[in-house]
Amino acid sequence: MTFIRFLHLLGIGVWVGAAASALWLVRAAAADQAARRADRLELVGRLYTWLVAPAAVLATASGMAITMMGANAGYGERLGEPTSAAMQGLGLLAGALAIFVTFPASQRLFRAVLAADQAGLATAGERMRRRLAAIEPVILALIVIATYLGVLGTPHG
Ligand code: HEM
Repeated sequence: MTFIRFLHLLGIGVWVGAAASALWLVRAAAADQAARRADRLELVGRLYTWLVAPAAVLATASGMAITMMGANAGYGERLGEPTSAAMQGLGLLAGALAIFVTFPASQRLFRAVLAADQAGLATAGERMRRRLAAIEPVILALIVIATYLGVLGTPHG
């Protein structure tokens, strides 16, 4: 159980750091000239593939595993208390948004940038870039709130 909690916290840490970095690049790219914009957005696609998406899966899956193991170990009642239940609910929502919305958007953006010719470089994937810029702050806010609730809801000592 301790090891899965370690994986849970590791996933959350990598997820926050990588998603915040990707968001920064996504926003900075809006004001760039075409070639630099394409470089930054290509990096965004790679960040999502190698860090954001795996970390979101790790954080969410490890959380679900702790819930199931905790219920089997007889402390299901504590996991149903409002702070812990809210952490699990917000965490699931953040995980679903990351896996089903921002990750696919980042990959469409990545492919659009790679496929663009010189003339299309300045606007390639713009709809997906805007989608990421709009949704990633919501996910980051959910993670921060879920982290606070998770710390509050987990007894230590
Ligand atoms: C944004 C995603 C999430 C964040 C930021 C988050 C945050 C946290 C934190 C900070 C802890 C405390 C760890 C410790 O102090 O040892 C924790 C524990 C836990 N998390 Fe999450 N969590 C997330 C997603 C989930 C999900 C999706 C589930 C399950 C559906 C879940 C289930 C649990 C459980 C069962 C514990 C242990 C609670 C206990 O022992 O009382 N988490 N989480």
